Amino acid sequence: MICSAIRCKTRDAAAEGLQKAVGNADIAELRIDFSADAADWLEEVLEHKSLPVIVTDRTKAEGGASPRTDRERIALLQQAALAGAEYVDCEYSCIQHLGDLPETVTLISSFHDFDTFPPDLEEKMLEMDSGRGDIVKVAVQALDICDNFRLFDTMEKISKPVIGICMGSMGEISRILGRKYGNVLTYGSPDGEEGTAPGQVSVSALKQMYRYNEINTDTEVYGVAGDPIAHSASPDIHNAAFRSLGLNAVYVKFHVTDISLFMKCFSRYGFKGLSVTIPHKVGVMAVLDEIDDISEKAESVNTVFRKGNLLSGTNTDIRAAVDRLSELTGGLAGRKAAVLGAGGVSRGICFGLKEEGADILIVNRTVEKAERLAGNIGCGFSGYDGFDGKNVDVIINATSVGMHPDVERSPIDTELLSEEMTVFDTIYNPPETMLIREARRKGCRTLTGTDMFLAQGEKQFEIWFGRKPPEGVMEKAFNAKFTKRT
Ligand code: ATR
Repeated sequence: MICSAIRCKTRDAAAEGLQKAVGNADIAELRIDFSADAADWLEEVLEHKSLPVIVTDRTKAEGGASPRTDRERIALLQQAALAGAEYVDCEYSCIQHLGDLPETVTLISSFHDFDTFPPDLEEKMLEMDSGRGDIVKVAVQALDICDNFRLFDTMEKISKPVIGICMGSMGEISRILGRKYGNVLTYGSPDGEEGTAPGQVSVSALKQMYRYNEINTDTEVYGVAGDPIAHSASPDIHNAAFRSLGLNAVYVKFHVTDISLFMKCFSRYGFKGLSVTIPHKVGVMAVLDEIDDISEKAESVNTVFRKGNLLSGTNTDIRAAVDRLSELTGGLAGRKAAVLGAGGVSRGICFGLKEEGADILIVNRTVEKAERLAGNIGCGFSGYDGFDGKNVDVIINATSVGMHPDVERSPIDTELLSEEMTVFDTIYNPPETMLIREARRKGCRTLTGTDMFLAQGEKQFEIWFGRKPPEGVMEKAFNAKFTKRT
């Protein structure tokens, strides 16, 4: 079940929240602790509700805002139960003071820690399991992605129905994957509104993107590991493909700081595939069983997949770039390619171009770095001063110049562009950089960072599932996210 968690500052906010929840959420939580006069309006709001409701009057000690004394809170919960609330949430610490509830009411016994992941959480949950209440709920702060797995392990030992949540960005996966490991419900934020706890996912994303209610013990888990990871569009594109093919699989964002530790959990939990992004593309290599040649040379892995018992790594950024450039140029062999930049992105592309037999020139602000990389690749190099663009077939921007917010910049003088060139900008924000805009104006063939993002994602899907994602599905999902954001 998806529960819309509503901050009920006023009677109207509670009524509107309930109305908005219908359609996307299965149940709503009325957080009446945000209202000083909840006792005056609660019965009336409950009378008009059109979906099941949890009433919660969270104490300040457990991260809530209730202005009431324990005695007043308990009385109000009792009143809510008599007025038709299907669920009442009461902190385990004071649950023994709650009087008898009507038999139809389900009592959630809860415990919260907004600061840490308590070392004695298991003891606490076992104690709650044998105490009063029909459902055991804990919400604790994740200080590392692996805390989610500690929680999942503990949830298995609880005999009552359970709601286990890790809060914060590192705990986001518990709000989605928790269902696979026994959660009876998850709390989501109403669309476009502040949630009631850190790390909450919106109700519509839970329902539409993650298909939360379809997750079961057999659901295969995929995801992207990075730091930061909040704005990744990978869940949008992969989940859209899963959905369109009806695959029993879900793709989540793993906010990972220690990739080695995380990969142990990834293996132990039998997750199926991983996209890897900044800053873990190099670090992940140390914990894989095998890595293909191009990723080894580029010193960068962005895709992890299972080969029997082995964890294998490859780089679809490079493959996608090379394939698309080959298509646009009619083959890269013998083409003169100027690669702007000499960092990690440039390194990957250069090794890919080299494999195809392109004639590479690395152009960089710091000439010594260009020289060093050129030495590794076995190609030419120059600074920007010495670059005139003559006889160049392909120009690739592998620098950050032109990226949001500095969008009115190009890494080279756009006067150097000519119609016969193919221009590829690895930047995807903005979708059309100044370099791409000018290249299009001059009639060049172009490839954008967005094209590449989609192409690398399609290749990942193909590696994991042995088939291409349905045409256009990832692009549509990407555009929908972008339109929503702007
Ligand atoms: P990445 O791993 O994304 O490639 P990186 O290793 O930091 O990131 O490399 C960034 C590249 O962008 C470098 O080639 C950098 O040039 P320098 O080696 O001279 O630093 C290039 N770059 C960044 N800002 C630049 C700017 N304002 N003008 C020109 N090149 C720039």
